[in-house]
Amino acid sequence: MAESAPLEAEIRRRITAAGPMPVGEYMALCLGDPTHGYYMTRDPLGARGDFITAPEISQMFGELIGLWMAAVWKQMGAPDRIRIVELGPGRGTLMSDALRAVQVMPGFRDALTLHLVEISPVLRAQQERTLNALPLSVSWHAALEEVPKGPAIIVANEFFDALPINHAVKIDGGWHERRIGIDANGNLAFTVAREPLPHFERLLPPAVREAPEPSIFEWRADSVAMELGRRIANDGGAALAIDYGHVESATGETLQAVGQHAYANPLTAPGTIDLTAHVDFQALAHAIEAMGANAFGPIEQADFLCRLGIETRAAALKAKATSRTAATDIDSGLARLIGRGRTGMGALFKVASFAHPSLGVTPGFE
Ligand SMILES: C[S@@+](CC[C@H](N)C(=O)[O-])C[C@H]1O[C@@H](n2cnc3c(N)ncnc32)[C@H](O)[C@@H]1O
Repeated sequence: MAESAPLEAEIRRRITAAGPMPVGEYMALCLGDPTHGYYMTRDPLGARGDFITAPEISQMFGELIGLWMAAVWKQMGAPDRIRIVELGPGRGTLMSDALRAVQVMPGFRDALTLHLVEISPVLRAQQERTLNALPLSVSWHAALEEVPKGPAIIVANEFFDALPINHAVKIDGGWHERRIGIDANGNLAFTVAREPLPHFERLLPPAVREAPEPSIFEWRADSVAMELGRRIANDGGAALAIDYGHVESATGETLQAVGQHAYANPLTAPGTIDLTAHVDFQALAHAIEAMGANAFGPIEQADFLCRLGIETRAAALKAKATSRTAATDIDSGLARLIGRGRTGMGALFKVASFAHPSLGVTPGFE
């Protein structure tokens, strides 16, 4: 029973005091504990980190999202002031590439103020380094609720998958919460609450309700999605969510731990490895639509990026490439972003958009 991570002692203390903890509480502690949480202590992104994301693979990703934001702004009637909000901006790479791409539209550049929603002090410092050369107003917020009101264009790449997930297991005709306790050998282990979750079944889509035993169903708190929907419906604008996940709510466990580009046991060394779970795009859209915004998609990342013109952009970059290595990098970045094979993100990642009802369909979702 090795206590390899400092956070593990705190988790054990809580389980001993209060009994097994919900998976969502465990995930929230692992990622966001103020002292030992994974995102509080490190920059996990990049080839030498734990994982790599689309903006870190190629500048084309952020550039196209910049053009998407500018097109939405035009669709909104080119307002004098627009808030650009990014949820979980990582190293700031996406926004840096996006804002460079929209330099050709001075009206948009002059209208925007940038708001970054970030919990990690390490990544926030990195975002400051990446973005401080830009001649615009940037502010940081701990939550979307803290961003001042007003029309907004909101972008979230690999953000929702980092929000805590809860588990329920169907047993004996009822749905029981899956929790994390301490087993007979003294190790952290999954366990199941004896009593079923009251009225849980009524909240489930019919296909999930009828699932065979012992199916696992994952769900997230809707609070961030609802806030996003409320803002768009009340103040105007649109949002873009890009993530890996499933189009329709379904049973199955997707909680996964990744460290140094390899899968790990989610219950080992809490706080030192990344924990994520697939996004249920149906549930996400449901929460946002309930607040009065329209939802579009999800569509596959490959389709979205191709509709925005990634192949043309790749050809233009290659024409200007100064070395064979640079040209090869452009090809491999393109293949990674839109490829549908085992190493490609094109089909695994989905893109959904949400908009004020007056806006109509957002670019790429026609
Ligand atoms: C997987 S990284 C993605 C980073 C970036 N969007 C990219 O594509 O490279 C998740 C990001 O969300 C941030 N994050 C995680 N949970 C958060 C929360 N509850 N509130 C705000 N930011 C959060 C992380 O610190 C990190 O910046």
